Amino acid sequence: MEDNKVAFQFISEPTDVNFGGKVHGGAVMKWIDQTAYTCARTWSGTYCVTVYVGGIRFLKPISIGDIVKVDASVIYTGKTSIHIAVDVFSRNLANTEFQKTTHCVIVFVSVDQDGNPQEVRPWIPVTEKQKKLSEYAKRLTKLRDIISKEMQPYF
Ligand SMILES: CC(C)(COP(=O)(O)OP(=O)(O)OC[C@H]1O[C@@H](n2cnc3c(N)ncnc32)[C@H](O)[C@@H]1OP(=O)(O)O)[C@@H](O)C(=O)NCCC(=O)NCCS
Repeated sequence: MEDNKVAFQFISEPTDVNFGGKVHGGAVMKWIDQTAYTCARTWSGTYCVTVYVGGIRFLKPISIGDIVKVDASVIYTGKTSIHIAVDVFSRNLANTEFQKTTHCVIVFVSVDQDGNPQEVRPWIPVTEKQKKLSEYAKRLTKLRDIISKEMQPYF
């Protein structure tokens, strides 16, 4: 597998349950964070910290005992930041087709031993799909600036 991508597959467990009998949103968020961090860390080769998580969209519930697939890929790098798109899919063991259940973009920053941002290996999109995702990440960055300004009084 290329070093800009990470994929995990596993079966959701009874301990992942929420009060409605499906997989808990917190469990999904943990899988997203673990997979995205592994992707960012693999790409950068350095210690990274999460600087932004937002816009997690839960599209469909996941049932306990479903096969879960978490795909993470680098879609943009700034000077010190690595933007990771994460898609979560699930399928019942009786089905062959995965359905997308969750999507989000997480931003990590590569930091040095003192916790200061440091330059990250640039990722250059090559395929049309990668170029589209890179533009998507840039558009989200602009929207995030607006959100950050709106949230500023509460920081
Ligand atoms: C991550 C951290 C080191 C960044 O420090 P900072 O003083 O904001 O650094 P900068 O302003 O130079 O920004 C660093 C990068 O973060 C990006 N960034 C800052 N705020 C952001 C936001 N709201 N959304 C997305 N990216 C953001 C900047 O664009 C910059 O990326 P670039 O160099 O590619 O352009 C600091 O905020 C921090 O330590 N945060 C806590 C991290 C943490 O504990 N995470 C949870 C556990 S891992």
